[in-house]
Amino acid sequence: MGGRERFGSRAAVIMAMAGSAIGLGNIWRFPFIVGQNGGAAFILVYILCCFLLSLPILFSESVIGRRTSRNTVGAMEALAPGTSWKWLGLLTVISPIIILSYYSVVGGWSVEYLYKSLTIQFHPDNVEAVTGMFGLFTASGFKVIACLLLFLGITAGIVFAGVKKGIERFSKITIPVLFVLIVVIAVYSMTLPGAGEGLKYLVHPDFSKLTPDAFAAALGQSFFSLSLGVGTMLTYSSYVRKDENLVASGAGTAVSDLLFAILAGFAIMPAVFASGIAPSAGPGLVFETLPYIFAKMGTGGVVISAVVAILFFITILVAALTSSISMMEVGVAYLSEERGLSRAAATAGIFLFALVVGIMCALKGSVFDFLDKLCSNFLLTLGALLFSLFVGWKMEKEDVKDELTNGGTLHTNAKLFPIIYFLIKYVAPVSIAVIFISGLLG
Ligand code: TRP
Repeated sequence: MGGRERFGSRAAVIMAMAGSAIGLGNIWRFPFIVGQNGGAAFILVYILCCFLLSLPILFSESVIGRRTSRNTVGAMEALAPGTSWKWLGLLTVISPIIILSYYSVVGGWSVEYLYKSLTIQFHPDNVEAVTGMFGLFTASGFKVIACLLLFLGITAGIVFAGVKKGIERFSKITIPVLFVLIVVIAVYSMTLPGAGEGLKYLVHPDFSKLTPDAFAAALGQSFFSLSLGVGTMLTYSSYVRKDENLVASGAGTAVSDLLFAILAGFAIMPAVFASGIAPSAGPGLVFETLPYIFAKMGTGGVVISAVVAILFFITILVAALTSSISMMEVGVAYLSEERGLSRAAATAGIFLFALVVGIMCALKGSVFDFLDKLCSNFLLTLGALLFSLFVGWKMEKEDVKDELTNGGTLHTNAKLFPIIYFLIKYVAPVSIAVIFISGLLG
């Protein structure tokens, strides 16, 4: 594949991958899943999941992607020609496009909420109205679709600009900014009166709340958060240079993603407790609870609460964009490399498809919920399981080692390799299968 683009540096690889990883999953999903599963004890399980199960999957996708320098379908054809593994390639082209469709609906909500915060609608005089805003907004089909269109349009613009000029440049600028913003918000949130309860909730483990469901939730959340199981990281890895260290960039990505999720918890939970709202408020936490909190905080100073609200919704919007571009890139790489479309045509095609499915999700909550469940509870886990089986059992061990150690030249990686390989071959597939099957059974 001559002339294929490559990320420019280690920093660029980590920023792009962390950009994909850090998103609505960290800010919108993580806090309420922690809330529903008992706080700090869940965070511990989550951290174990990240390093023992998710990181090996990330390495598996990286090995396949960089070894072949191709899109998900091309990669399977290159490594296992003429076998049914090509279905894994196809599955992982389709699922990120489905995720893109409903993810962009939430991306669109954040466009609207940035607008609402810029026009200071979360005002102390408005506290009562603020709670009802989300329902009113999502009931107005036209507005929701306009925001969806805008969000998908920006995504398509960045993807169309290319791997280096679009994805790499956007992620390199925005990811450091996101970290600064979330730290600022977390510090502010922890100084609110009553925030101590929220802090305690995050750092005090309550093991009695760790039901088997909590393990499945931790696994699902950590795959979703690291963008695993649907070929996103495979595709990004196919743009990684041959002399880059896959173990170091993968670990850097996982640590950044985890750190951001925990910071988001520290930004959101103290504020939630300070306002006396139940921490398991569900998906509405970010779009209903927080605006209410911003409005109430306004009584202590309208300017500061308005500024925090604006920074918060900028963070959400930008984090969502660095993720949505990674989902779109999977399909664009496939259509342009395997189907001979130009980058412009491929981008336009996926944009239109995601727009149509996104509109259905925006208008019908049941479609949204169905696709989210289908992807985050099923397709992601299935894809992750198959990727680990592929690398652990189908590929030659020597080839996997060659890829993770750059032909034996990376000595630390060579020392770590037996552990990593054991995790990929046995620990990850067995644990994922157990959690997956027990989830299917009930
Ligand atoms: N990881 C992103 C988040 O946390 C979302 C995301 C991007 C994703 N690409 C993905 C999720 C692929 C699943 C699969 O918001």
